[in-house]
Amino acid sequence: MTLLTLELFEILRGFSSLVPPNSLIFPTRLSSSLIHDFFLTSILTSPHFKIFPPSVQYQKQFWKWAITHLETLDGDEASASTDPRIYDHYISLMPPPGPALGSAKIDSRCLQGLPLQVPPSQSYVTHFWRVPSEGPEYHVPGGTINTTEYETVTLLESRTTIESGTTGLRTWLASFVLSEYLINHPADLVRNKRILELGSGIGFLGIIVASLQQDVSPKNTSNIGLCMSDINEDILQRCKENIQLSSSESALNRNISYRIIDWSSALDPETLPSLYQLIQGEINADLVLGADLVFDPTLIPALIATIKLCLQPKHVSSTSKTIPKMALISVTVRNQNTLTTFLSLAQGAFFLSSYNLPLLTLKYTGEHLRVEELKKQSQTLFLETIENNNHDNVKLFRFSLQNVSM
Ligand SMILES: C[S@@+](CC[C@H](N)C(=O)[O-])C[C@H]1O[C@@H](n2cnc3c(N)ncnc32)[C@H](O)[C@@H]1O
Repeated sequence: MTLLTLELFEILRGFSSLVPPNSLIFPTRLSSSLIHDFFLTSILTSPHFKIFPPSVQYQKQFWKWAITHLETLDGDEASASTDPRIYDHYISLMPPPGPALGSAKIDSRCLQGLPLQVPPSQSYVTHFWRVPSEGPEYHVPGGTINTTEYETVTLLESRTTIESGTTGLRTWLASFVLSEYLINHPADLVRNKRILELGSGIGFLGIIVASLQQDVSPKNTSNIGLCMSDINEDILQRCKENIQLSSSESALNRNISYRIIDWSSALDPETLPSLYQLIQGEINADLVLGADLVFDPTLIPALIATIKLCLQPKHVSSTSKTIPKMALISVTVRNQNTLTTFLSLAQGAFFLSSYNLPLLTLKYTGEHLRVEELKKQSQTLFLETIENNNHDNVKLFRFSLQNVSM
């Protein structure tokens, strides 16, 4: 069991999720030896950060900030002083001495004494989380946190908005918001469910869902499953690698599949039959998830067509009942017109009673997509995205069929 005061836990969470150090609060009311011990044990020599360290770029800023504050403490109190291993580590983060003048090409900005603008490098990022209903005992009397009550999500991710021409190599705020919703409703939404994520990116939401499935679904249930999908093979490969990182409980989930799904296939008569077979025949998800997929107005018709395809009711042949499906979509509102287009197209979307695939005749039932806005959690479990962390910009919608009468 590792007990930390709330202030030190906030620094741990900040370091692990690359919060800029100038937004962190250095504790003032704690003893100097407790603070020194925290930086040494919970950060510098932590086995987790040995395997999954934040980028060197970030660590340089963090340790500069920490050392500056630790040295102030050293001046106040003789009982503790900054451990030499912290200085050694900070020095090890510095680049080796550069080439001698004339021996290699040197950026002219260096010669002019101007800082080089280096784009942030990719980094491991770790977020702490827990299911709130698991009981109050994680808050130990005295305002301390038992860190072993928390699970972690670790990802290798890009720290820029676009890398290699895609937005999918980092985690977006809408994923945090949707994750928080699922974490707060695991029994209703995740337990015993087959789940499909569209445009999954590098897997933040998938790690949460796969971990929740491990937590809340009976181990021998054959019906559960998680399918992660994206248009981009490299992203999907990174998603798989992240989900399998040993630090997250998702690594233990054996019911995860990965599929390339391009939403535009839902609008193309040539590709629709195989997409239908994949989505309905193979994946057959009860719950469809999507975070930050509504950013390009030209993609909206294809996205809606894909969601519609996913929500075709599931027939249970033994009981001749249909099981309604649901989609939860979180949207970051960057442009009100894009959101309006998305909602008006979704609300006008009709359902199909059958696809006759060889002839591709589509019969419409007259059923509509029902779109409801959901109330989000007010708490913020996860820290730091590249966008401003304003939850008010993110809206959460539930899509379902108005009436299932097939
Ligand atoms: C803004 S990112 C969101 C990633 C992730 N859901 C998140 O919230 O962190 C949008 C994702 O949609 C995927 N995407 C874009 N166009 C797509 C399409 N036509 N079909 C399927 N996925 C697409 C991208 O590859 C990218 O992973």
